[in-house]
Amino acid sequence: MEDLKGYLAQNKDRYLNELKDLLSIPSVSTSAEHEGDVRRAANWVHDQFVSMGLEAHIHETERHPVVYAQWLDAGPDAPTVLVYGHYDVQPPDPLDLWETGPFEPTVRDGKIFARGATDDKGQFFAHLKAAEAHMKVRGKLPVNLKFLIEGEEEIGSPNLAPYIKAHKDQLAADVVVISDTSMFAEGVPAIVYGLRGLTYFEITVEGPDHDLHSGLYGGAVANPINSLCQIIAGLKDENGKITIPGFYDEVRELTDAEREAWKKLPFDEEGFQSSIGAEALVGEEGFTTLERRWGRPTLDCNGIIGGFTGQGAKTVLPSKATAKFSCRLVPDQEPEVITARIEAHLKASVPEGTRLTVTPMHGGQPVIVNTDSPAVQAARQALSDAFGAEAVFIRGGGSIPVVADFSNILGVPTVLMGFGLPDDRLHSPNEKYNLTSFYGGIKAATLFLDHVANK
Ligand code: BES
Ligand code: MN
Ligand code: MN
Repeated sequence: MEDLKGYLAQNKDRYLNELKDLLSIPSVSTSAEHEGDVRRAANWVHDQFVSMGLEAHIHETERHPVVYAQWLDAGPDAPTVLVYGHYDVQPPDPLDLWETGPFEPTVRDGKIFARGATDDKGQFFAHLKAAEAHMKVRGKLPVNLKFLIEGEEEIGSPNLAPYIKAHKDQLAADVVVISDTSMFAEGVPAIVYGLRGLTYFEITVEGPDHDLHSGLYGGAVANPINSLCQIIAGLKDENGKITIPGFYDEVRELTDAEREAWKKLPFDEEGFQSSIGAEALVGEEGFTTLERRWGRPTLDCNGIIGGFTGQGAKTVLPSKATAKFSCRLVPDQEPEVITARIEAHLKASVPEGTRLTVTPMHGGQPVIVNTDSPAVQAARQALSDAFGAEAVFIRGGGSIPVVADFSNILGVPTVLMGFGLPDDRLHSPNEKYNLTSFYGGIKAATLFLDHVANK
């Protein structure tokens, strides 16, 4: 593999310049004004595949296109690997908190700062360069390789499950590999074997049919913001347990072996706390921080809208108030079942004088993936060679809903081999990706193909 390693070392500067090009495209999938930019990013990825000698297509969906590419000349005895990634990004706001523009990628202190640097442009880029290195150095790939790079992950992949169902044969593979998660720490690569699921919903509480003077009416009618806050405050008890009836019914308890294994990880609790600038780490009683983040379900308000929020003071009772929520789910909770229980509980707990509507938005199933497969062994070898340390097996708190689809629709297992770091600030201002992750990731992805071919 020295041939490949030599080639990677010679091309480092070009890789960084290419990543900067991709990061300069504001492919924000949620905003209509960026539709053209999302398409530009899809074209950019498509053109990369074409220039390295893969067959590539832009497949239209109802919203943002899927980029699909393949190279199937390794023969019927070689394994087939499907790489998944997403070229869309989260909105960059609040803009004033960025040290340099979110779409003006800048290297400072060995890190590249830009929206999408770690989530997921910098990461799936590694697999593009892996394929390119094999093609350039050896004129072929050691495996049959397929790429599915979508543009709607950050809005819940509304069109991806239908796409997968419609392209089952095209997507047939022995294993899916995804780099869209984090390592355990700098220098400690990880294979993620579980991800939490999600249900996202909005609730609106309505009272009087128009805003009212808070002096003339205050005290005699229900205030929707007060009602909303009363509801939210009741959703958790003093031990951090969620009070919704049935919420925990299907939760698979962590095994003693898993809890022991997580206690042995080199987790720096104080470093974690200071990296997020928190006063204290709080959560469900009886669980450690890692257990709370990886193995327990949550309910969090993500935003509140209502009443007068302008400068100064205005004496007014608002006619309505809205809040957005996410619940992270763990095996064996089903998003639809949990959402229905939440809805029933909320409707039953509306304070007198207000009414409530619940709007489910998107969701995804939690997953646990198999860790004892040849592809996982190949990932371990590739990670230890690229990062100089053995990979640890961990879970992740975030969600990648398509992982369940690959398993349910295609029957193909996924290996989650991510190169990000826990302090990458994904979805936040000043998102970054360390250059050690960037170059290590390219190396790991390149070696992975050889290792998986040899299994
Ligand atoms: N790449 C993340 C998920 C992730 C990050 C998992 C780090 C584990 C470790 C992904 O892009 C993401 O943000 N997913 C969303 C899903 C949602 C929009 C359906 C999430 O988790 O909020
Ligand atoms: Mn991602
Ligand atoms: Mn994301």
